[in-house]
Amino acid sequence: MLTSIKANKLQYESQKIGMMYFRVAIILFGAQLLMGLIAAIQFLYPNFLFEVFDFNVARMVHINALVVWMLYAMIGSVYYMLPDETGREVVAPGLAKLAFWVLTAAVAVVVLVYIFIQVGPGKESTIWFINEGREYIEAPRWADIGIVVVVLIFYFNVFATYMKGQKTGIMTVLVADLFALAGLYLAGIFYTDNISVDQYWWWWVIHLWVEATWEVFVGALAAYGLVKILGAKREIVEMWLWIEVLMLFGSGILGLGHHYFWIGTPEYWWEIGALFSSLEPVPLVAMFVHVLYDWGKEQGHCEAEGGAHAINNGPAMAWIATNAFGNFLGAGIWGFFHTLPQVNIYTHGTQFTSSHGHLAFFGAYATILIAMMYLGVQGAYGVKNLKATKLSKWAIVLIVLGILGMTVALTIAGYEQVLVERAELGGTWEAYFIAQNLPWYVQAQGWRLTMGVVTFIGFVLLVVDLLTIGAKEAAEEQGSATTAGAAAA
Ligand code: HEM
Ligand code: HEM
Ligand SMILES: [Fe+2]
Repeated sequence: MLTSIKANKLQYESQKIGMMYFRVAIILFGAQLLMGLIAAIQFLYPNFLFEVFDFNVARMVHINALVVWMLYAMIGSVYYMLPDETGREVVAPGLAKLAFWVLTAAVAVVVLVYIFIQVGPGKESTIWFINEGREYIEAPRWADIGIVVVVLIFYFNVFATYMKGQKTGIMTVLVADLFALAGLYLAGIFYTDNISVDQYWWWWVIHLWVEATWEVFVGALAAYGLVKILGAKREIVEMWLWIEVLMLFGSGILGLGHHYFWIGTPEYWWEIGALFSSLEPVPLVAMFVHVLYDWGKEQGHCEAEGGAHAINNGPAMAWIATNAFGNFLGAGIWGFFHTLPQVNIYTHGTQFTSSHGHLAFFGAYATILIAMMYLGVQGAYGVKNLKATKLSKWAIVLIVLGILGMTVALTIAGYEQVLVERAELGGTWEAYFIAQNLPWYVQAQGWRLTMGVVTFIGFVLLVVDLLTIGAKEAAEEQGSATTAGAAAA
């Protein structure tokens, strides 16, 4: 029975292309987690895979895979929602598929080079062929140029489809936002040998992605998801979206200053960074309220109408709700903790930063992108009401528990660094190593590894669920349709 049910219910090429991107995204997500586990073991046992698979390589692949899987899932989400929003097929599906294969081949080559060729002198040619040396976006220049070409094709497709199709508020925001998102990547490509200038521009990509353009993107996805899953009213959802966009750009752009405190930029960035980045949690609260408000309103409606089922995709809705909480906690609260220069002078570059990095990336982005994958599965199998299975529940519980556990552990390690390494011992080179060997730090790293394993188990369950839930529920719906048909006859 199950085997006869195929994932071929998508009518648009655009949505099928979206699913291709989702598949690569989830594979890279798995690779990211494995690399994280290797790096976490090396924190505790520095000899683990020493000179075979070094920490710098594991860490680099961990965070680059993170960025790349999220970009894949973001592109996938756009291709998936494009026909729903514009009411038509993407203008050039053939070109989109070609771009997908070119990008995927390039990513494979870059990852192999990351893994096998990272030792040796840094020369002009290494920037072109090995590694550009910019954290999170280390791809060598040849790949950068390839990425720009692929993104131009993607953008052309989105823009031209938008121009020819119906123009919803969600699509208008997306089209404008993607332009800024793609444009900012250029700031991370050119090279200067002055490290302050280099960092200055690098943050244009890193900060203005995650705290401005990616956040707006998430606002658009949440709006689309709420319309799709709850049947939320478009006017209300889009009104929220415009408010969020205004606030996100209002605080996020100059909030950039919180990365300019100590890199050799003028001191006025202390005040600018402190003020605007402190305002950044405000839009995150708005996004949080937005999701809970719409959800609560729909539930109220249903109860009034006799309790009919309002949510037509349980797992996706659970992940969107997790997104609202996670974004607020990871970016808003954990970000705010260390954003004032008076605090940041102590916490800068400690495990505290890492705790914020983990909770924010997971809470704000991983969650909503997983929700989009569940929407994709629902569409692919033509399931009317995708209910959460046992696996969906275990997956979300274990992943969230694991990430929260890692965050708490790293926060404790960071706290120890602030007290011992920075405040007491004055932040010297020697102090750094003393602090790393004290019990609080070592135990915290042990817990991080343990909770990392919990996260990984949750991830495996998530993959199994994504691969099986569609066929299972389609079979159930077919089954109950047949029984209902038989009863009627
Ligand atoms: C989803 C949004 C966000 C993500 C994904 C994110 C992620 C990160 C990451 C990965 C880093 C470390 C960068 C590095 O390697 O040096 C970082 C640093 C930082 N983030 Fe965020 N962040 C977000 C939002 C915020 C917000 C809203 C605030 C403030 C309210 C904030 C405040 C900071 C500060 C102050 C640092 C510098 C830490 C240091 O000095 O070591 N972040 N963020
Ligand atoms: C199996 C679970 C995971 C483990 C064991 C793990 C482990 C690690 C380790 C050891 C580092 C290097 C930290 C350092 O240099 O001090 C790291 C960095 C990082 N990881 Fe993970 N990670 C995991 C999952 C994730 C997830 C799910 C995300 C995001 C969605 C993530 C995002 C990051 C980021 C942004 C950094 C750079 C942080 C910074 O420099 O501040 N990791 N991770
Ligand atoms: Fe930032």
